[in-house]
Amino acid sequence: MIGRMNHIGIAVPSIEAAMETYRTLYGASEFTQPFDMPAQGVRVGFVNLPNTQIELIEPLGDTSPILNFLEKNPRGGQHHVCFEVADIHEAKAEMERRGAKVLGEPRLGAHGTLVIFVHPKDSNGVLIELMETPKDH
Ligand code: CO
Repeated sequence: MIGRMNHIGIAVPSIEAAMETYRTLYGASEFTQPFDMPAQGVRVGFVNLPNTQIELIEPLGDTSPILNFLEKNPRGGQHHVCFEVADIHEAKAEMERRGAKVLGEPRLGAHGTLVIFVHPKDSNGVLIELMETPKDH
């Protein structure tokens, strides 16, 4: 069963420009330093909010998996929602047992714990990320 909502993933053409929007339009004041995740083909930065985070995702390299998404949504758009689970391998096996399409094997996510993605067709058109709860939570 899913637990806490960890973050909402938003694909953007520029993390800095998006952070500026959250700063000037919405008054957000806590941002993490963006960093590259070459293995996933993305650059990531977080807006910290009292109850959750917004994960801003920018394409990295010309084979980035979010390039297609940004072609269809040039200004950016909501990309995925991430919920925490206790054990990622158990979650993957259970999701598959329930008939969901899990995309690929567990891989290291932006928070340093393993994540999987579940195909949007199984969740009302929303791409779902499941993330193993960080041990220090
Ligand atoms: Co995410």
